[in-house]
Amino acid sequence: MSETKLNTPKINVETYNDEADKNRSLEDHTKRDFLVKATAAASAVGAVAAAYPFISTLQPASNVKALASIEVDLSDIEEGDGKVILWRGKPVFIRHRTAEEIAKVKQDDTNTELKDPQKDSDRVKNEKWLIVLAVCTHLGCVPNNGGNFDGWLCPCHGSQFDLSGRVRKGPASANLEVPPYEFISDTLIKIG
Ligand code: FES
Repeated sequence: MSETKLNTPKINVETYNDEADKNRSLEDHTKRDFLVKATAAASAVGAVAAAYPFISTLQPASNVKALASIEVDLSDIEEGDGKVILWRGKPVFIRHRTAEEIAKVKQDDTNTELKDPQKDSDRVKNEKWLIVLAVCTHLGCVPNNGGNFDGWLCPCHGSQFDLSGRVRKGPASANLEVPPYEFISDTLIKIG
């Protein structure tokens, strides 16, 4: 029986494997690149998402921004009267002083018993109007109208303030703080 020789195509295993490896390698690279990019993108999105609550807490809330400065209409405050408004969560005394009250606080500019000596003119922008924080400089209570100096009496430990907001008696050692403000017109101020 004659032997039939089959002409089987010669396969270069090494070459095949090289090509396969190259192809596989190319695919792997492509996949790997995709995975790396996708992971990086996901991480970036995750980082931003995770950071958002933190970043957003650094932004002032819109209501806080709105209250950073406020305009106050003074036209409805009679001479000798006043009102309390809220600015940045703190009460503020606005007092429309009479001519007699102005004369009296000016007289006290030279009073040697002032605990925190300050001229009235250094505490007001228009002498008719006193604008001070309604926060006692002792421990932060809100003073009421009263005391012996026509101004305010702190209900907590009895500090007294005159109509320039200067401390005159009691444990407080500093005058009521004057907030930053400006007159926009004769009857309109902006605080803050
Ligand atoms: S808090 Fe006003 S006197 Fe103490």
